[in-house]
Amino acid sequence: MLDRVCTLNVAQRGDALVLLRSLADACTPLVFFDPQHRAVLDKLKFGNEGARQRGRAGLPAMTEDYIDTVCCESARVLQPSGYLMRWIDTFGLCEGHHLRIPLKPVDLIAWDSMRPGMGKRSRRRGDYLVVLQKPPIRAGSTWRDHAIPSRWSEKVDRSIHPHVKPIALIARLIVATTELRGDARRPPTRARIHRLRSDGGVK
Ligand SMILES: C[S@@+](CC[C@H](N)C(=O)[O-])C[C@H]1O[C@@H](n2cnc3c(N)ncnc32)[C@H](O)[C@@H]1O
Repeated sequence: MLDRVCTLNVAQRGDALVLLRSLADACTPLVFFDPQHRAVLDKLKFGNEGARQRGRAGLPAMTEDYIDTVCCESARVLQPSGYLMRWIDTFGLCEGHHLRIPLKPVDLIAWDSMRPGMGKRSRRRGDYLVVLQKPPIRAGSTWRDHAIPSRWSEKVDRSIHPHVKPIALIARLIVATTELRGDARRPPTRARIHRLRSDGGVK
């Protein structure tokens, strides 16, 4: 079934749920999900988001129901003790959006983009990565790199994508939680991940 929907190891273009639903149960140790949120913009109502966030305003957004459904499908395709690494903004984190799904939050990494954004009180400078785990909850046997800090500073090139996420952090987490081998400080997967970068919300 998978072959009919996607070819492995190339960037996918299409609906994230269609891709996920084509995958077998418990087929992967790791899913990254970077949803295209609307919730915070609906809440803040800045009114001039098109002018302030040129790239973002043109991207298709995901409803909260859609985001939760993707998370539940991700839980299905994860192996036991596998991880869903979900990017989340300050609003979603404070509102506990990640608590709506049946996976346990086991860690949180704060990404500092080193570039000030918007905010009615403090100004945003990056996002958060919530690490959710499928039962049974295990740390030592599933996470090999114990030098990844919970505060991660990395500049990104937004000409690649308006919401591009820190590729060095992502590469390090892939090596830490999967069977991919390499030097965890500069994993060989980094260049490959650049090539595979998908415009879709799921990597
Ligand atoms: C926050 S961005 C992801 C940025 C990406 N992680 C990166 O590092 O470049 C969310 C992306 O999800 C895409 N998107 C929106 N709806 C989608 C859907 N139903 N299926 C797959 N991707 C979708 C948007 O076009 C947007 O590119």
